[in-house]
Amino acid sequence: MKIAIIGTGNLGKSIAKGLITNNAITTLVLTKRNLESIAEFEGYKNVILTTDNLQAVQKSDILIFAVQPAHFELVLKAIAPHLNENHIIISTITGFTIPKIEAVVGANRFIIRAMPNTAIAVGKSMTCLCSNLQGAKRIKVAEAIFNRLGHTLAIPNLKCKQRQ
Ligand SMILES: NC(=O)c1ccc[n+]([C@@H]2O[C@H](COP(=O)([O-])OP(=O)(O)OC[C@H]3O[C@@H](n4cnc5c(N)ncnc54)[C@H](OP(=O)(O)O)[C@@H]3O)[C@@H](O)[C@H]2O)c1
Repeated sequence: MKIAIIGTGNLGKSIAKGLITNNAITTLVLTKRNLESIAEFEGYKNVILTTDNLQAVQKSDILIFAVQPAHFELVLKAIAPHLNENHIIISTITGFTIPKIEAVVGANRFIIRAMPNTAIAVGKSMTCLCSNLQGAKRIKVAEAIFNRLGHTLAIPNLKCKQRQ
């Protein structure tokens, strides 16, 4: 899997550690504006650290967003023109709904929301997943990722629609 984590803070680092430990990546691109706090990932095979979110988009098929809610819209707007039809967008962002994501990138994208809990730091998260209609076709990809970091519960699309 060619994965990028856009906004590698507390949550992003936990996800990165879990994916590396479980050999779940072909390439893993980790982004943040100041790379100092993720220097521990330097030197891992096939792991790239960069401040450039567009590089992450170009090198990856699966984009996991883990920035703070207030930063998400701007980050999403900047990468939106560079998405291709295969990209899977996985948002872990609290309070930023699927319709809001669709409003920026379009409803034709594979969009999945993943809500892990803090036990993700020790690989024992219970992660709830839901998606837009397109994203339902790729929900298994998100399950494969987050099952390596604990357990997942996919919320059926109709129920998801009521609560998204
Ligand atoms: N922590 C959890 O267990 C947890 C659980 C469920 C959901 N969430 C959600 O996950 C998100 C992240 O939470 P967190 O606790 O990991 O927050 P965090 O530690 O603040 O991480 C966010 C990271 O985003 C980076 N960032 C900011 N602007 C950026 C940009 N333009 N491009 C790339 N990276 C950027 C920041 O680093 P720089 O300043 O160096 O760029 C920061 O390290 C939040 O939306 C939260 O609601 C967290």
